[in-house]
Amino acid sequence: MLVQSILLPALAAVAHAADYSGHLRPQAHFSPPTNFMNDPNGLFYDDKRGVYHLYYQYNPSETVAGNQHWGHATSPDLYHWTNQPIALSGDKPEEYMFSGSAVIDSNNTSGFFPDQDDGVVAIFTVDTPTLETQNIAYSRDGGYTFTKYENNPVIDIGSKQFRDPQVTWHADTGNWVMAIAYADDLVIGFYTSPNLRDWTHASNFTQEGLPGVQFECPNLVKVPVDGVISKETSKYVLFISVNPGAPLGGSGTFYVVGEFNGTHFISEVAQETLFDFSKDNYAAQWYSGIPEGEPPVSVGWASNWDYTEEVPTGPLEGWRSATTLPRAHTLTKVNGSWAVTHRPFKGLSSIKGEQLLNKHLKAGDVNLDFSSVSSNAVAFDVSLAGIDTVSPVGEVNFNFTSSSTGEHLDGGLSLHDGYFWINRAGTHLFTVADDGNYTSSSSTIVPSFGNGTFGFSGVIDRSVFEVFLGHDGSQSGTMTFFPTAPLDTLTISAEGLNNRTSVSVTAWGLESGWNSTQA
Ligand code: FRU
Repeated sequence: MLVQSILLPALAAVAHAADYSGHLRPQAHFSPPTNFMNDPNGLFYDDKRGVYHLYYQYNPSETVAGNQHWGHATSPDLYHWTNQPIALSGDKPEEYMFSGSAVIDSNNTSGFFPDQDDGVVAIFTVDTPTLETQNIAYSRDGGYTFTKYENNPVIDIGSKQFRDPQVTWHADTGNWVMAIAYADDLVIGFYTSPNLRDWTHASNFTQEGLPGVQFECPNLVKVPVDGVISKETSKYVLFISVNPGAPLGGSGTFYVVGEFNGTHFISEVAQETLFDFSKDNYAAQWYSGIPEGEPPVSVGWASNWDYTEEVPTGPLEGWRSATTLPRAHTLTKVNGSWAVTHRPFKGLSSIKGEQLLNKHLKAGDVNLDFSSVSSNAVAFDVSLAGIDTVSPVGEVNFNFTSSSTGEHLDGGLSLHDGYFWINRAGTHLFTVADDGNYTSSSSTIVPSFGNGTFGFSGVIDRSVFEVFLGHDGSQSGTMTFFPTAPLDTLTISAEGLNNRTSVSVTAWGLESGWNSTQA
């Protein structure tokens, strides 16, 4: 849900030269060339050409939401990006291209691709002042240009609150399956189709107690259990984004684990699980076309409708919003409950630079001055061993500070109660005084320390911070922050640990994903 801004004419579909040098501009994350981005859309991997496509909700004319197009970028590795011309635009005033997905129709089920096995179909919502309908468009050039289907819309139920189709291939029934939000009803609908043109309503899913004022951007994903990447050991997970009314305020995403038989999703859990314990991970979408045997990959929108149109990157640098890091996921059991794990896609390998730190400590501080890292982006890992599992004690804290202004983003783990927190209150360009919903801190309780080990790792990237908890990444916290000067120093401190407990700290500089591709 969002407030439409004044209608401005669609810009010509041109690739944008852009300035990615601003001190708030993430270097390891995607952000739009200029103006406003929200949800990732149409994520698909073109295995044949080795290209990841990212489309996104884009207002090409202002740094606030509205005038929605599908922006487009491509990447060989999900870290190095090339901006492409806008992929989808409205045909008339007040016709907006809302969120949706894209698939490769390799068997030409749609009939759009008589001579090729790499045709792409985008399935998206067209939003007008009175109606939301589902539409398709096809691309014969690998996803760079699209033609809208002449018999659109493919689904019209006469509703203004019906959006964000996510389509996947269901091999067992030989059908395409669409998950879609009946936003106001707090219901996810499932439709099936043999050909992407003709859709049949199959079922509706909701569950008592699910939070939210509107449901948006559902994703039905088959997720492998415990890292065993096979069909037999996968379960279905239904991700639902809600706005407003997320448990942490504003927008947020949760998931429900269960089974899907081709027409019905059957939840196997009494309660939903939050996808992220902080406020800036919304509307994540899962890549289609990821090769068999590899874990599913998501990209989310690192922002929150509560304050996204106010953050200072707009007036200062002419853009608003970045994506999350691309993440690979599996399912694991934590204290008897299913948890979706998060790991940066391919371990950040294609942008991982020099190792800057590799130290062990039992008490006191370790410091790292990373002002020489030109991207100002750093990955870090903190691993604890020898934790007393019966009565764990002590704290491990971290603090990213600006050597020039003293601003900081900090966080830490208290072992005795498993409390893990992160806090952006020490950064001053945008604060809770600017928007009361821009809450400073987020926290969670980590699972018990089982075999006496625990770890957390993450990335800080100019104005986006992401942390993954546990060696399996069974929780993630994504937080934007806006300092007046770059944070360029890391301090890790240990205090009050049991004398058998040791902490090892490693950190790497990250290379910019933009240097080689962007003017
Ligand atoms: C979610 C959302 C979607 C909609 C799009 C419009 O952030 O509100 O439901 O399709 O954004 O930009």
